[in-house]
Amino acid sequence: MPVEAGLVFIGHLETPWETPQDCPRNGRASDAICHVHVKEPFREGLASVETCSHLYLLYWMHHARRDLIVQAPSFADSPHGSFALRSPIRPNPVALSVVELLAMRPDGFDVRGLDCVNGTPLVDIKPYFAGTDSIPHARVGWREG
Ligand SMILES: C[S@@+](CC[C@H](N)C(=O)[O-])C[C@H]1O[C@@H](n2cnc3c(N)ncnc32)[C@H](O)[C@@H]1O
Repeated sequence: MPVEAGLVFIGHLETPWETPQDCPRNGRASDAICHVHVKEPFREGLASVETCSHLYLLYWMHHARRDLIVQAPSFADSPHGSFALRSPIRPNPVALSVVELLAMRPDGFDVRGLDCVNGTPLVDIKPYFAGTDSIPHARVGWREG
């Protein structure tokens, strides 16, 4: 497929895990403290981030293959489309986690709640708004039962 957009990585994620196999399946499954390194030209954009308790991090799963559109994860009993999964394997390997902000640092900040390999490129940071983002009755039907 032709490339339809360009990305600028704004930093990278420093975590205790060196391979995908070492990582927790999702960030909520780990208490590890991780560091979000933001490149210098983008640090001005962190103004007021220190007031947020939780953030969305969007990151680029740089070790993931991109050629599977239907997958059968080990924990599922049948195949599912990549867009019904949180697998890193997808046409654009963008991942997201809601992380807890622990401390601001000169080159970024520390968080809890990540699930990615050390050095994973960072795409974006956004505040998590509990009032509008939380949907307690949301469902993923294929995962029920
Ligand atoms: C199931 S994905 C979930 C990612 C994210 N929380 C989401 O929902 O979009 C997490 C898994 O991706 C794999 N992974 C982590 N970092 C990766 C990277 N940089 N490249 C490829 N795979 C990675 C690990 O196996 C990890 O357990």
